[in-house]
Amino acid sequence: MNLKEHVSSKVFDAVAEAGRSLNQPVYVIGGYVRDLILERGSKDADFVTLGSGIDLARKTADLLKVKKVNQYKNFGTAAFPYKGMDLEFVGARKENYDRKSRKPIVEEGTLEDDQNRRDFTINALAISLNEADFGEVIDPFNGLEDLKKKNIRTPLNPDITYSDDPLRMLRAIRFSTQLGFAIDSDSFNSIKKNAERISIVSKERIIDEVNKIVLCSKPSIGFKSLFSTGLLHYFFPELANLQGVEIRNGNSHKDNFYHTLEVLDNISVNTDQLYLRWAAIMHDIAKPATKRYREKLGWTFHGHEDKGARMVPGIFKNLKLPLDSNMKYVQKLVRLHLRPIALTKETITDAALRRLLFDAGNELEDLMTLCKADITSKNPVKVKKYLQRFQEVERKLKDVEQRDQIRNWEPPISGEVIMKTFGIGPSREVGIIKTCIKEAILEGDIPNNYPDACEYMIEKGKEIGLTVKVAPTT
Ligand code: CTP
Repeated sequence: MNLKEHVSSKVFDAVAEAGRSLNQPVYVIGGYVRDLILERGSKDADFVTLGSGIDLARKTADLLKVKKVNQYKNFGTAAFPYKGMDLEFVGARKENYDRKSRKPIVEEGTLEDDQNRRDFTINALAISLNEADFGEVIDPFNGLEDLKKKNIRTPLNPDITYSDDPLRMLRAIRFSTQLGFAIDSDSFNSIKKNAERISIVSKERIIDEVNKIVLCSKPSIGFKSLFSTGLLHYFFPELANLQGVEIRNGNSHKDNFYHTLEVLDNISVNTDQLYLRWAAIMHDIAKPATKRYREKLGWTFHGHEDKGARMVPGIFKNLKLPLDSNMKYVQKLVRLHLRPIALTKETITDAALRRLLFDAGNELEDLMTLCKADITSKNPVKVKKYLQRFQEVERKLKDVEQRDQIRNWEPPISGEVIMKTFGIGPSREVGIIKTCIKEAILEGDIPNNYPDACEYMIEKGKEIGLTVKVAPTT
């Protein structure tokens, strides 16, 4: 195969010319070639050369009039951005791995050595940028055929490839999910066998790959493979624990692992937001911890939403997900994920709608997206009924919001006003009165405005034995 016309741009011409002038053969290799053939478009290009990668990068940068080249002398690599692309240069090498670490001992090597050290046949393809065979695809392991057959296979014995660098087990699953490829059965068995070796990989690298799986159009494919290879149990045991069905007196509950994956796939149709997808992954995470069998009720998972929300920080920490507003966001959605469903089951009062608006705030739409994704019934009549009820809830929420403006609402009376009115300092009483006012507004007992809230404050203050020192101006 010759891909001359695909590597005839200013960048490739410059790399080819730099190689010629240094008398170093050069090739574009790896993901760029794979994505070119799959017509996926790629922003990163890796170049391998027989000689110094750093010299090649410098020379190419000169020709492209780029001033700054980032050099990584320890690795013998160099890189620079050019017009939205990331260009990386490395000398062809051989790698020898130590069992305890992912860091190889590196020696200079041939192009073949360099292709041998790569993770998958589809990632070992190279295109020559040399005069004699410019554009020719160099494919020692039938990577082109694997691309056609949609197959993930390692160039060497998979036990060697995976044991050398166990991150590749996750990469195999990530590529298979991203590209819709199957993992070759020898490879799959080898991942099962070597799963335990994932423990030498840093959590940061693991979560990088996992997030890429989460962002795929059908992430369940990846999570099912993570589960069946046993990898998931090592880095995210809480999710693996959701798997399984227990039966008592003929009563079973659903398998919460597969249910969670359905919810994740459902939500992925409607959002590319990483942390909304994470909320779907975590929404039922506390079901095993709260599971009870009761003679009259059957299986219950009471309080799994609160317990689940409390589990979120620990899981984020373990997975090295950020402990910032994204974590709080996931926590909030997990905590509230039953609330809209609960609303569909009872007659909907304005007070309940106001409370949901107040508690969900800006996350209301995302919460509704999660709740709709949570409908995984196989009975289309039931699905239709639930969705109709959600629409009803959404309509009423809009109505109440327009009337009462509760979302992102701060109760109209501050602690300062309460303290000044009754001539008291910060105390339990201030909290009691504040809560009373908030509750009264949410319940609809008083309107959401300052004068009515002032009147109510005075009434409540008197009830708990306070006297007005300075009447508030209304
Ligand atoms: N590679 C490898 N083993 C790894 C990581 C990378 O053999 N653990 C090789 C592969 O040949 C890969 C190339 O290095 O194609 C570049 O790696 P990277 O940029 O991480 O991945 P890409 O294949 O380019 O794919 P993506 O950008 O989707 O991660």
